[in-house]
Amino acid sequence: MDHFLYRDGILHAEDVALADIAATVGTPFYCYSAATLTRHYQLFTEALSPLPHLVCFAIKSLSNVAVLKLLGDLGAGMDVVSGGEYRRARAAGVPGDRIVFSGVGKTREEMRLALNGGIRQFNVESEPELRALSDVAVSLGVTAPIALRVNPDVDARTHEKIATGKSENKFGVPIAKARAVYAEAARLPGIDVVGIDVHIGSQLTELAPFEAAFTKVRELTEALRADGHNIRRLDLGGGLGIPYTRSNEAPPLPTEYGAMIRRVLGDLGCEIEIEPGRLISGNSGVLVSQVVYVKNGEGRDFLILDAAMNDLVRPSMYGAHHDIIPVVEPAAASPVQAFDVVGPVCETGDTFAKARALPHLAEGDLVAFRSAGAYGAVMASEYNTRPLVPEVLVKGDHFAVIRARPTFDEILSRDTIPEWL
Ligand code: LLP
Repeated sequence: MDHFLYRDGILHAEDVALADIAATVGTPFYCYSAATLTRHYQLFTEALSPLPHLVCFAIKSLSNVAVLKLLGDLGAGMDVVSGGEYRRARAAGVPGDRIVFSGVGKTREEMRLALNGGIRQFNVESEPELRALSDVAVSLGVTAPIALRVNPDVDARTHEKIATGKSENKFGVPIAKARAVYAEAARLPGIDVVGIDVHIGSQLTELAPFEAAFTKVRELTEALRADGHNIRRLDLGGGLGIPYTRSNEAPPLPTEYGAMIRRVLGDLGCEIEIEPGRLISGNSGVLVSQVVYVKNGEGRDFLILDAAMNDLVRPSMYGAHHDIIPVVEPAAASPVQAFDVVGPVCETGDTFAKARALPHLAEGDLVAFRSAGAYGAVMASEYNTRPLVPEVLVKGDHFAVIRARPTFDEILSRDTIPEWL
């Protein structure tokens, strides 16, 4: 459920008409609903509530500091994958002891930043990283809490670019090697082993791969405890998928996911951490765009929008589907027409949808891409010198620009012509 609904024939975000935001902010823009973000976060905390737990929002999916503050104020932890994301979490007021640091390529500088600023745990992905972290911690005279990210060799059955839990992927330490690496971690100075971490992929639409991975984590917990390690936290990663179409998709609900976690791992006495991104942010956001032209091509009609692949890259990068709906509600029996929905960027890959059935649309009409809150704005670029798309947050009948569209002067001022040229 989300809070983007038609009211009096106009698509609203909560109590604000998207057409009113468009008139103030211009298009394209991302719009997020505070009520939807809040609800999705709470679904997870409720699903895990009998267990000690922390829901660490995966900042990579939507990293605006205002959104992080909203979730942080509800008690959320954060999953960061770079020094930049760590800074965002701190700027949003999230304390270090609610931040977990993931990622295969943490630099020593990023380790120092997090150790100095406060960190709940590093999710360590390799032996060289473990040794580097030990060096950095010792040089600072502190101890780094760690979980080792294990690769359980489980097929997440999702898009190949976002599956991470197979042995051929770059992520984690092969689970068969884990005991040896934990033994090394226990010997290294400046390292405190606190738990195990696993993340097998994103946009999973069934529970079975999660359950297979978590069962392996359970076995590893028992083995590591027998080896003398004090395993007290299990970080189960993110990855629960969302419905991208209103019609037939029904991925498992957070309640079902939580019940499975409790069944598989609930008796181990561990604190459970999860790192959901998409399920919290995905259906909490839309991208609003305007029709620039309707072009009648050879055997097809193109709907040319003012949003492009640089604003929302998922369709061209993953072949992802986003529902596109008009901001002015079409009459119940209005005829539909097939459009190729494209942006103005100079490549054929700048296509959002082919032969998409849409109601009659004309120049100047507004459309909304649904499910665009996750991996939308964060993956945007200024390709074709198109200004980075702005972001708006709605709460009840309030809205605010939480990231302004840069001016062309700002964009051009970032380039420097060397004196010697
Ligand atoms: N934890 C780790 C270590 C991750 O790598 C990810 C996502 C998450 C948590 C959050 O996963 P989620 O709950 O959002 O599925 N750009 C792609 C998705 C990339 C996901 C990368 N890792 C897309 O647009 O589909």
